[in-house]
Amino acid sequence: MSAPPRLPPGRSGLPFVGEWFQILFNPRFGAERRAEFGPVSRTRLFNRDMALLAGPENNLLLFRGEHKFVEATWPASTLKLLGPNTLSTQEGELHLRRRRLLAQAFRPKALLGYLPLMESRIAAALDRWLERGELALYPEIRALTFEIAAALMMGARERTDPALVHDFETFAAGLFTIPADLPLTAFGRAKRARRRLIAHLHAAIDARLRSGKAGEDVLGLLLAARDEDGSALGREELAEQMLVLLFAGHETLTSGLTNFCMLMAQHPEAYARVCAEVERVTPRGPLTVEALGRLADTERALAETLRLQPPVAAAFRKCTRTFEVAGFTVPAGWLTGYRIRDTHRDGALFEEPGRFDPDRFAVFEETCPHGRVHAHAHEGRYLPFGGGARICLGMEFARLEMRAFAALLARRCALTLAPDQDLTMKQVPVPRPRSGLVTRLSPRG
Ligand code: HEM
Repeated sequence: MSAPPRLPPGRSGLPFVGEWFQILFNPRFGAERRAEFGPVSRTRLFNRDMALLAGPENNLLLFRGEHKFVEATWPASTLKLLGPNTLSTQEGELHLRRRRLLAQAFRPKALLGYLPLMESRIAAALDRWLERGELALYPEIRALTFEIAAALMMGARERTDPALVHDFETFAAGLFTIPADLPLTAFGRAKRARRRLIAHLHAAIDARLRSGKAGEDVLGLLLAARDEDGSALGREELAEQMLVLLFAGHETLTSGLTNFCMLMAQHPEAYARVCAEVERVTPRGPLTVEALGRLADTERALAETLRLQPPVAAAFRKCTRTFEVAGFTVPAGWLTGYRIRDTHRDGALFEEPGRFDPDRFAVFEETCPHGRVHAHAHEGRYLPFGGGARICLGMEFARLEMRAFAALLARRCALTLAPDQDLTMKQVPVPRPRSGLVTRLSPRG
């Protein structure tokens, strides 16, 4: 007789909900469990057992296990609203094929073409903000990132139609809710907003096809993209994939940029270095990808922002096959996942992990095989964009937009945080200061 499987030690929490509330609202939950039970432990989430894995080796194990013994998993509301035809919900060989196809809109040459639009929208936003003087930055940055995404993905001209923004917000608000499709529920409203957004995307696709010119934006490149066997995405799937791109990139970029502004205002010496570097490398004139690539201090400040406040705190997975980890058995059917925030706050990986210190990336770069901080995802220790087969598809797009924003901000703006505001962090759905980051922007003298 074979020995019974050795399940990870842990706790189950309350009947039915398990430890859902602790997982969601206690940012120290993972660290506390690791201290109590070690890097492999067990919890329960809505009647499902879940293996909590910690440490770079276990992150790498999960990255390698994608499509082999783990797959993506989403709450029912998210699954229904995203739909089955999206990168986030596709699995196995289909997922890999779709990634290769969609990646055609995120290659270096494509990004080169997006930069002028990013630059003009960011510059116009800075004009407006400077004119207003003091403002809550979080909602403004949220509008800006949507405006850029909508322009590149839906062909939206000038400022985005407020009805479209409203539909997108309603759609996003329903993604993690109880999936009751009723007139007044968040989910029911989100479903109707989704229908209108998909109709809008169909109209954008049809207009582009009628014009006979695909264009060089995300929509155009995806219309022209072909699979290995020469087939294109169908109109229905293209619209759904675009919606998931909008969703995946919106809150995340907003969080990253807002927290960057907060940290720059709180660390004037770090911001002074960013400003001096921008002044040296690209003081005026149109931004170029080449010049942005030479902004080493700026890149480190952005990388440190994403380490300290990663927009995605963790990613969930479902075990499709039983696997072994550190002498424990994780049975098929359990939930698991990798935890970005806990990894980034691990004192064994980052000295004084709670301190904002962009210079720690100078050391990283020296020991990094490609000289690039994001390559460290492959070592399982710095992973704001995840890793493995599901590593963020929009990573280079996001990094470009963040660098363009940082450079234009540094060229033009001094930042002062308004006193007496609540800067404690809201964590759900993405980390950002509770106050919305009330900031005074003035021209840099
Ligand atoms: C996946 C982070 C911006 C598109 C991911 C994942 C992370 C992440 C951690 C992996 C999730 C998992 O393992 O389940 C971020 C951060 C961003 C950002 C921190 C900004 C600072 C963007 C942007 C886009 C985008 C701008 C699109 C333009 C995607 C897509 C996936 C993804 C499509 C799913 C990939 C797949 O399942 O194969 N992102 N993201 N992201 N991201 Fe991003």
